[in-house]
Amino acid sequence: MSAQTLYDPRDRRLPIVAPPCGLVIFGVTGDLARKKLMPAIYDLANRGLLHPAFAFTGFARRDWDRSTFEDFVRSSIEKYARTDFNERTWKTLSQGIRFVGGTFDDAQAYQKLRRTVEELDENRGTGGNHAFYLSVPPKYFGMVCNNLANTGLTKKAPGQFRRVIIEKPFGHDLDSAKKLAHQLTSLVDEGDIFRIDHYLGKETVQNLLATRFANTMFEPIWNANYVDHVQITMAEDIGIGSRAGYYDGIGAARDVMQNHLLQLLALTAMEEPSTFDPEDLRIEKEKVLSAVHIPTDLATSTSRGQYTGGWQGGVKVAGYLQEDNIPADSTTDTFAAITLKIANRRWAGVPFYLRTGKRLGKRVTEIAVVFKRAAHMPFDNVSTSELGQNALVIRVQPDEGMTIRFGAKVPGAGMQVRDVTMDFGYGHAFTEDSPEAYEKLIKDALTGDAPLFPRQREVELSWKILDPILDFWAENGRPDLYAPGTWGPDSAHQMLGRTGRAWRIP
Ligand code: BG6
Repeated sequence: MSAQTLYDPRDRRLPIVAPPCGLVIFGVTGDLARKKLMPAIYDLANRGLLHPAFAFTGFARRDWDRSTFEDFVRSSIEKYARTDFNERTWKTLSQGIRFVGGTFDDAQAYQKLRRTVEELDENRGTGGNHAFYLSVPPKYFGMVCNNLANTGLTKKAPGQFRRVIIEKPFGHDLDSAKKLAHQLTSLVDEGDIFRIDHYLGKETVQNLLATRFANTMFEPIWNANYVDHVQITMAEDIGIGSRAGYYDGIGAARDVMQNHLLQLLALTAMEEPSTFDPEDLRIEKEKVLSAVHIPTDLATSTSRGQYTGGWQGGVKVAGYLQEDNIPADSTTDTFAAITLKIANRRWAGVPFYLRTGKRLGKRVTEIAVVFKRAAHMPFDNVSTSELGQNALVIRVQPDEGMTIRFGAKVPGAGMQVRDVTMDFGYGHAFTEDSPEAYEKLIKDALTGDAPLFPRQREVELSWKILDPILDFWAENGRPDLYAPGTWGPDSAHQMLGRTGRAWRIP
């Protein structure tokens, strides 16, 4: 075998190293940049996945020089990086660090940024390849892109790349999402816009595709003939912390259901893509999202809640309305649960229940595929009285893995069947730690590997599903209340109870 065959760059098992390039982060002093983005950049460098010529520029409204910024980056890495601090990695990385101070509307600052980018091409060898990460409130997306375009920073020579990376929320409803896209695509090509949904960067979410499409035993039962219903849960035990400015008026459904949960639904329910190329994956996700419909009676098939004050884990916690900077009459949902159906042959009649919330029982994200009971069981009713329904649970986080629940005979003379579980845990099966979602997504954006970035059409289809529910809620009073540490308001339990089903307690 020739060396060329051994190192085929298309071999997806090999780590792909990002090409020489620069990454500029707008809003670099914010929480996301400090806790997730800069540590992820360092972890990539530490894993040898960034080219030695990689350069990183911070842009923010501070009067900092380069060495003050370097100290800031270093302290964020030391505090939040996943991998150990290594002086050699840091030395290589820090030589490519730059800082540009200015506001998002300051034309002079963008000129300074242009000169910085040119200097990096000249002295660091970034080769004219640059990505701009907008870790800023969405209201600034247009302003920043406009200034980047006016300064010529989005213009690339043949063989180079210029990309813009944006974080959700992409609008607050279908109309605003369309307007935002229109504004952005008038400045940057759609193919150069990378929309981050960090759930798609999680190993367990990608494993969903491996589970479904690399095995024979799941796909034959992955349909309405065998599946009773699907529950997708993203629960957090924390409150909104210091994020009142972002969260109030947005709420749980817009914050995570429109994006993370509907993406999980799309990956769970879509047909097999012909390849994992972005286009093929996009086609399947769009197809299934466009088949999603909401029940007609939204009063009984949805639930929204707001946490009250109380005790959680032995600690006294404030209610949502008592959190700093939240108006006393806010109707923002901190819990949302909805029922969706998918109008295609595979899923006809199978409800998909989605729920998310802050201050719930514990932090857990999972997809539970719950199967129908066997059509006939040759046991008497007493033998199977403690038998539940078979289920396959994909544990997205924090205890990453999969559980299969099925019935087994209780040892002893009589015939009694009870639920047991079989577990696969990432931590047990593999010795390597899972990379953080942002490591994967930043590297993919720098290498131009796009399957994990939602396209505009998916964003629009998701808003189309959610908009009528949000309108209904806006017209129908206040959210139901729930105590911290519980699994949401009574209305969420009734939503399933009415159909004879119950939410899992993860
Ligand atoms: C973000 C939401 O997208 O996801 C936050 O804006 C939420 O409200 C966060 O806390 C949760 O992410 P993870 O990866 O910790 O589940």
